[in-house]
Order: sequence, then structure tokens, then C-alpha cells
Amino acid sequence: MTLTRIDIDLPEHQLRETLVADAARGLLAAAKTCPPKYFYDQRGSELFEQICGLPEYYPTRIERRILTRWADEIVAAVPAFTSLVELGSGSSSKTPLLLDALYRQTPAVSYVPVDVSLHALVGAVGALRDAYRTLPIHGVVRDFEDPLHGLPDLGHRVVALLGGTIGNLDPRTRAGFLADVAAGLSTGEGLLLGVDLVKEPRRLVRAYDDAAGTTRLFNQNMLNVLNRLLDADFEPDRFDHVAVWNEEQSWIEMRLRAREAMKIRLGSLDALVGFEEGEEIRTEISTKFRRESLERELEAAGFGTRGWWVASEDEGCAGSAGDYAVVLGVRS
Ligand code: AVJ
Repeated sequence: MTLTRIDIDLPEHQLRETLVADAARGLLAAAKTCPPKYFYDQRGSELFEQICGLPEYYPTRIERRILTRWADEIVAAVPAFTSLVELGSGSSSKTPLLLDALYRQTPAVSYVPVDVSLHALVGAVGALRDAYRTLPIHGVVRDFEDPLHGLPDLGHRVVALLGGTIGNLDPRTRAGFLADVAAGLSTGEGLLLGVDLVKEPRRLVRAYDDAAGTTRLFNQNMLNVLNRLLDADFEPDRFDHVAVWNEEQSWIEMRLRAREAMKIRLGSLDALVGFEEGEEIRTEISTKFRRESLERELEAAGFGTRGWWVASEDEGCAGSAGDYAVVLGVRS
């Protein structure tokens, strides 16, 4: 039996076609946007790994702390759990915490990493292959639309979406995503979410506008991706990195702001996009959650909340709701 397999469900031509549609919708609109999945080419995935190590970017650190402390408890909260499906698995660097806990419970473990970046997936699968000699790993390259459709079903599943990635979806898309995951799961299977929590805006903004400028490079890199996929001529240095807290929507927005007026050619669309000085493209929203409303959303989608584990950067600070949470929903 083959223990390792990677399927490509998102060939580059499909990514390009999706982008042409996304770009036509987002870049030619009055308020310009471009979805965050276009951050993650090889360079973008590397920059994101660097962001995870920044002093200002606490989510990765705190999530790791939560999983280190409570992985056994999390895993035990889903009876018969054998198969970990990880959406947006990236480098899979936190996965061993869950896999090790799973192995302490059962020998019948399997792992299904899913990511838009083939490069990240190949690297992650290679590293896990060396560390877990007998673990069946079946990776799939694809994005989140139709999240479970056609994925290998190797056991009693927990679908994990860690790192706060669910925060990238706007409320409507998020409700659709949760409903789609619920529709793909059987009663008793789980959904494990890593979510960043609402906190002091100053700390939130710093996490998305770091002193070393790594997040700026990450944001600007989207323009390199657009140049390649859309045959465009953006000059990333002519755009400033902007991160703002949107209190009403409870999300951080990242934007690219044109430093001067310019016209950009989008070859594949056979179009020109004009920018006025100061005009912005919104490239990402990163929602920050509160416990009550998230539990309500899970409930509405068909999940009962079975567990809620939180931690903070400064654990001496009593009375705070915590910086970050790992939430377990179980399909009802
Ligand atoms: C991987 C989407 C969770 O929103 O915090 C990091 C991406 N953007 N710094 C996030 C990101 C800017 C990250 N997610």
C-alpha cells in the first residue's frame, strides 16, 4: 500500500482562471479588493513562515502553546477520532502536536493535509514522512471552496482549520464554509478551529504591521503574484502597506495603498486599472472573534461546541478572555 500520496485538485491554469474572474470582480470594482489566497506562492508562503516567528505576531505562538498543553484533551474529546484532515495545512508545523496525541490514543491514524500551495504541501509531507514512518498521508492541493468534496475519507475525521485562517472569510462566506463542512461530516465527527480573539486594537495592528517590515513584503508580494498570473505590470514598491482595525466588523484589514496616481495594465484581462494617489486595494480581512457569537455560528451550522481552550501572551493578566482560542465543534 502506498503511504504517501499528493493529488492536485487545483492546477495552475485553474488558479489562473479563478484569478482572472476574481481580479475582474475585485480589481475593476469601485472599491478594489483581491482575495488573500493570492498571497501564497512560494515566496509568499516563505514570508508567512517568517511572520509566524515575529515578536509582534502572537497567534502562531499562542496556538502552539494551547496545542502543547491540551492536545491530549482535545483529541480525547472526539471519541473514535482517527483521521486528521487539515485545511490550509501550510508547513504542517503544528500538526505533530495533534498527531502525537492521536497516536497516544490509537494506532490507526491517518493525515489529509490540504493547501493551495503545492510547494508548501510537498515540503510538509516530506518532513512528516520522515518523522512518521507508517502514517498514511494523502495530501491534496486545492482551495477552500467546496471544502470536503472529493477529499479522501480515511477514518473518523476531525477537520482542522488552524492559525486563525477562518478569520479570512467574511461573515457570509464563513457561514457557507461552516455549513459545507457540516454537510460533509457525519454525526460525531469534529471541526477544530484556531481563532484569534478580540483584544486591544494596538496589539492587533502591530501584529499586522511589524517593525521589521515582513508583513509589508508579504502584502506587496501579492502584486508579484498578480503580475505573473495576470500578465500585469504592478510595481510593488509603489504601494504602501496599510493595516487597520475595523471595530464595527471586528476585523483587521490589510490594504495596499498607491503612493501616486498610476495606470496598471492587466494583460490577461486586456484592461487598464487606474489608481488615484492614495487609492487602496483591500487584500485581506482577518476577523477577531468573541466566544459567544462564534458558538452561535457553529450551532447554526450544525456543530455543538465541545471544547474551548484559550491562552494569552501574558498569562499573569487575570480576567482577560484570552488572546487566542482553539475551539472544537462536533457535528450534531
Ligand atoms: C494565515 C490568514 C491566519 O490572518 O493572521 C498574517 C495571515 N496576514 N499576517 C492572519 C496573515 C498577515 C494570517 N492567516
